[in-house]
Amino acid sequence: NKPPYKMGEIHPKPHAILLPYPLQGHVIPFVHLATKLASNGFIITFVNTESIHHQITKSRFQSNHHEEGGDIFSEARKSGLDIRYATVTDGFPLGFDRSLNHDQFFEGIVHVFPAHVDELVGKLVQSDPPVNCLVVDTFYVFSSSIAKKYNLVNISFWTELALVFSLYYHMDLLRKNGHYDHFDKREDIITYIPGVEAIKPSDMTSYLQTDPTTIVHRIIAKAFADVRKADFVVSNTIDELETQTISALQKNQPFYSIGPIFSSGFPTSSVATSMWSESDCAPWLDTKPEGSVLYVSFGSYAHTSKHDIVEIAHGLVLSQVNFVWVLRPDIVSSDETDYLPTGYDRLIEYCGLIVPWCSQISVLSHPAIGGFLTHCGWNSILESIWSNVPMICYPLLTDQFTNRKLVVEDFKIGVNLCDKRSITREEVAEKIKRLMCGKSSNDFRKEIKKVRKTLENALAIGGSSHKNLDRFVKDVKAKIR
Ligand code: UDX
Repeated sequence: NKPPYKMGEIHPKPHAILLPYPLQGHVIPFVHLATKLASNGFIITFVNTESIHHQITKSRFQSNHHEEGGDIFSEARKSGLDIRYATVTDGFPLGFDRSLNHDQFFEGIVHVFPAHVDELVGKLVQSDPPVNCLVVDTFYVFSSSIAKKYNLVNISFWTELALVFSLYYHMDLLRKNGHYDHFDKREDIITYIPGVEAIKPSDMTSYLQTDPTTIVHRIIAKAFADVRKADFVVSNTIDELETQTISALQKNQPFYSIGPIFSSGFPTSSVATSMWSESDCAPWLDTKPEGSVLYVSFGSYAHTSKHDIVEIAHGLVLSQVNFVWVLRPDIVSSDETDYLPTGYDRLIEYCGLIVPWCSQISVLSHPAIGGFLTHCGWNSILESIWSNVPMICYPLLTDQFTNRKLVVEDFKIGVNLCDKRSITREEVAEKIKRLMCGKSSNDFRKEIKKVRKTLENALAIGGSSHKNLDRFVKDVKAKIR
């Protein structure tokens, strides 16, 4: 049964290509956005790079999630969602180490990858029914040209805070006022960004605190020039958390906060998106009293120094709390792999579990978890709030410094690990105790429940994110002609 339209005509049913940035912290919210949009009547063609696809497939196989011939959406499809799946090369061979050759990889993403995406989109617009929307990560620099070429609705998905979006969006204003890219940078509080009452320069994203010399700086500048041409921006934030910032952004272009974008089944995700095999922490956590365990993880991407790892290791022992620590093999940014103190395994035999990777949402939602020492990735913060787990903030790069401001200063649901650049084991132990024990701990818990409730209300029928999603779907449909 052929649909009642001809090839080349636009069918009113939205069919969107979703293209996440090829990093774990971006693929996860994109996958959840895919299921959300598909549940709202979209047909989705989800596109991963071949490298990400290969890594997820390998990890699913190791974790026994693998179905013969299946992709990450096999389960979602069984529940009637029309989510198709495609891959595209990023221009590098599978064996190329993208993390080690960071700059070369990002140069490729700017200069080589767009042609591959263009070719794929050219094929997908001929699918049945034809694609009519392009939903790409805001950090891509090519969205508007490809959307224009194929006459697609251009939708930018911003996976982070609206505040971070706003700072990047007003990069030129920061430059003009001497807070960014200036030989004698100002250090006073910034009060001129529309919708941002006041922000300290040290709370800006790391890329706005450093001179624009790297490839990532160039990507951000180009991407934020390009996003101005998007028809719509959707964001993984919540109106009530950033009311003024979001209102100011809405004056520039349609901006919809539809977060937190979790899978409908959180904490048990129906889509396995992990890029590394997950260690099962549940049997160990089951043996620990409620709220007694600190979860420690620095996300999928950031690196730190051997000094900090050693101080954190000693601080954990000094604090005398139980802990689960995700220590990625590449966490230290040198070739060194032997960074834990000698005999550490024996020292933590009864109180600590160290794993290379885990299902973070399963760990955070385990009743034994009472705190989270985090690098402040936005996904980690949302997952922690959703699990009512207060945080110790140890930001390492990018948006993590701005996210920390929200956690520590605005919501008061966590504590800063250290104010100076260099951390000590005594300070680590002291902050852990402040988070996990006594009156301060109860205060954090009380506050986080309120923020959790805000998120819950936003997602409920009639809540802000729910209504924004409805409005977004309606507006996109109206735009497809
Ligand atoms: C990156 C940036 O660093 C982050 O600041 C930005 O907001 C998103 O992109 P990442 O560093 O990986 O992300 O941090 P985060 O946003 O916290 O995302 C990590 C994701 O990996 C989370 O969804 C978390 O649940 C998952 N994770 C992490 C695991 O599933 N297992 C782990 O062991 C660790």
